[in-house]
Amino acid sequence: MGEAGACDTYNVKEDKRTGGAAAKEAAMSQAKVTFEPFDITAEIDPAAPVEGVGQPGSLLSIASANGIDIEHPCEGDGTCGLCCVDIEQGMENLSPPSDDELELIDRLDADPETTRLACKAVVGGDVVCRLVG
Ligand code: FES
Repeated sequence: MGEAGACDTYNVKEDKRTGGAAAKEAAMSQAKVTFEPFDITAEIDPAAPVEGVGQPGSLLSIASANGIDIEHPCEGDGTCGLCCVDIEQGMENLSPPSDDELELIDRLDADPETTRLACKAVVGGDVVCRLVG
């Protein structure tokens, strides 16, 4: 399936903060993911992970669904390291890195406090990331 297929499954929700409790609850479940330097922000529902390349709901899947090309020659296997992104805000809103991810980040001489593999970092809340390389 190409990118068009991935876009078909991407779920961008409209702002629902204008109604009753159900609308407020729906709005609270949304997360904003901003990709710099493009200044593109996607609204996603962490409870309905975006499918694509890498982990469902990952930064790579969300980027791909929004037409943002992040290199991923290992197809999200977590072995190439070319999908590294800097996390400018919201590191706490990402799934924790595995030991394998931390080892790869270390081999790349990147800062584990601010770097994640886009294919492995699953979004659970608002995040601002910057593409590198
Ligand atoms: S796509 Fe290769 S490490 Fe993420």
